[in-house]
Amino acid sequence: MKSKVNATADAPIPPPYDPEAAFSTKQKPVQTPLSLTPDLDPPGADRLGLTQEEITQFREKGYVIKRALIPKETFKPFHDLWWQQPPIRAAKLDPNRPESWVSPGRFWPDENRWSLPENWMGKGIWPSPEDERFGAEKGERVGRLPHKLTRDTGNYVWRWHGIGHDPEFVRATSAHPNVLYMIEALMGGPVKLPHRNRGIYSVFPRLPDDPETRLGPHMDQNMTEMQVVTYIDDVEPSSGGFTIYPESPQLLYPTSQQAHNFVATDASTEVMDHIKEEIQPIEFCGKAGDVIFCHGWVVHSAGIHKGDRIRKAVVQDFNRVRERSHMRWTAAGKHGGVRINCSMDGIFKISADHGDDPSDGMREVTNQWIMDSNEFVLSRRPPFQDMLEEWNLGERPVERNVINEPPWWQKYNLPLLPTGVVPRGGGGTPAVPLQSVANYEGDGIWRVTSRANDWMQK
Ligand SMILES: [Fe+2]
Repeated sequence: MKSKVNATADAPIPPPYDPEAAFSTKQKPVQTPLSLTPDLDPPGADRLGLTQEEITQFREKGYVIKRALIPKETFKPFHDLWWQQPPIRAAKLDPNRPESWVSPGRFWPDENRWSLPENWMGKGIWPSPEDERFGAEKGERVGRLPHKLTRDTGNYVWRWHGIGHDPEFVRATSAHPNVLYMIEALMGGPVKLPHRNRGIYSVFPRLPDDPETRLGPHMDQNMTEMQVVTYIDDVEPSSGGFTIYPESPQLLYPTSQQAHNFVATDASTEVMDHIKEEIQPIEFCGKAGDVIFCHGWVVHSAGIHKGDRIRKAVVQDFNRVRERSHMRWTAAGKHGGVRINCSMDGIFKISADHGDDPSDGMREVTNQWIMDSNEFVLSRRPPFQDMLEEWNLGERPVERNVINEPPWWQKYNLPLLPTGVVPRGGGGTPAVPLQSVANYEGDGIWRVTSRANDWMQK
């Protein structure tokens, strides 16, 4: 495949932003979610392919749900593994005693470095925020851990990212043939074969005295073309179900500066406020094996959880094979300088203010390694008139047009899969030195060498 896109002829380059930053506004969500149970599905939810009603729903609202798309027995080995993980053992959760599942975060350590390889910047251990680091200021963000533990608007949440690059888990979820069939039926090919997903996100029930759950609507502002959530356990109404704002992609899409990389404008902020005020969100309820397929720019939130079960969902990103540019890198601050994010054309611009030495290439560079698609799209063209211009939506038959594009960590020879003594479900991409991914051109400019499309030339 030869290069067809002239990126420099496209729109201007937007200011760089932190790859971990979601897009939202200060406006509080106003509407109460509607619980979307199977009786509300349009015809076709129980089978592969798309009915006319489902196509219309995706066109107008930006989502479609398929029931029992993956046999629930498929998830058995991962449930077993789930109960053995450090956040579960630390809080002494017992599968046979639901009362032990409540607010486990009471027993979690403030910082954890569970299931990590000892390969920070190639040799040292993964540091805690208190550790001195030669590539960053003390206390700088360390990057994603295999087990991200937080308390989100009332509920404790465990994002088990480390399972997201387990090959067997990926085959059972994102690369499941029925899932890939639906991706191609909706988005169209060539579909980029998923090599990882974000892992299992578990939302725990809370103690009666804990604060009520609230919604936290946002959109992820990455290159994801389809956001997909699979339940590996049943989710009843008001039990933390993945919650989306129907029609939000349709409203946000025309406000982006670009068609393929979401670049927010003032209009995006206004639209986000409108969505949070006026649109009734829907909560995806269902059984293990049910899957919701959404447009990638959907406004979403973890659901309100008043139940007594653990909500276990697999969060996934899908993309077409496209020409891409470099990854969404971010460099830690050093010598008193601030964090610097890489721009869309692969430039880190480091200022000598605050006494920083811009030519110092031994600084920690990380990316959002939980993503399967971590590279900007090369084309910076403006949005299409029709948001679904390039989509299939049942127009062409599914031909299994799935391409085994090398994942970004292979393109850049980065460590991701667990090495050494890391238990299954661990590992992740540590920091690498800036000088290993970029060249210094003087005047504070570091230019990243893109490896994104090398595989196409072969
Ligand atoms: Fe999100």
